[in-house]
Amino acid sequence: MKEKINIAIDGPAGAGKSTVAKLVARNLGYVYIDTGAMYRTLTYKAIKNGVNLHHNQQLNHLLSETLIQLTPEGKVFMDGEEVTDLIRTDEVTNSVSFVATQSDVRFEMLTRQQEMALDGGTVMDGRDIGTAVLPNAEVKIFLSATVEERAKRRYEENLSKGYPTDFEQLKQEIALRDKRDSERETAPLKKAEDAIEVDTTKMSIDEVVSSILRIVEERLDERGFV
Ligand code: DC
Repeated sequence: MKEKINIAIDGPAGAGKSTVAKLVARNLGYVYIDTGAMYRTLTYKAIKNGVNLHHNQQLNHLLSETLIQLTPEGKVFMDGEEVTDLIRTDEVTNSVSFVATQSDVRFEMLTRQQEMALDGGTVMDGRDIGTAVLPNAEVKIFLSATVEERAKRRYEENLSKGYPTDFEQLKQEIALRDKRDSERETAPLKKAEDAIEVDTTKMSIDEVVSSILRIVEERLDERGFV
């Protein structure tokens, strides 16, 4: 039996998944896996190489030649080159959901992500982790928050990084990404039936992390893990 479980954290853009998943992983001594960063890396490379962002086969071919590495410190490498910040630009953010729609790309990403979780001990965040990538994850969390609140968080995050943005525009972009992520045919953003929904609208990060850790502890107890 595996000694460590897998924890799936799904939810829409800006619900706090990566911040929370990182802290949960650190607390448990688990590895955090940011699957969105993998889709972002492919999108960045496709833009750079002039590959059509709507072409399933071309994108999948590009992916087959692309090494994506996520380090425990949260750095992202593409073919050995660090792209941690390059994959967070507005251009990539606003294009990535086209790439994430492609079924062959999703299948290859799913295969790579499942391999990373084979030995357990991961906290993996994304949109389809509980439903498609790790349907047997021992703990599944679905993080949600209102569009208004998620836009507010992104707005404040941008301000703190020194680039003010337009709040209304942010709200529209988030709503549009939600729509594309939840309406696509392959592995849409959807709460798994057995996921526990945590509405973070009125919660602090610490409160969200503590509530997830409580859920994890209960699950470990049930399964006789120490
Ligand atoms: O979480 P993020 O904003 O970095 O995700 C970037 C995009 O990738 C987002 O539009 C949804 C998509 N994505 C996905 O379709 N499936 C995942 N498991 C993770 C991200």
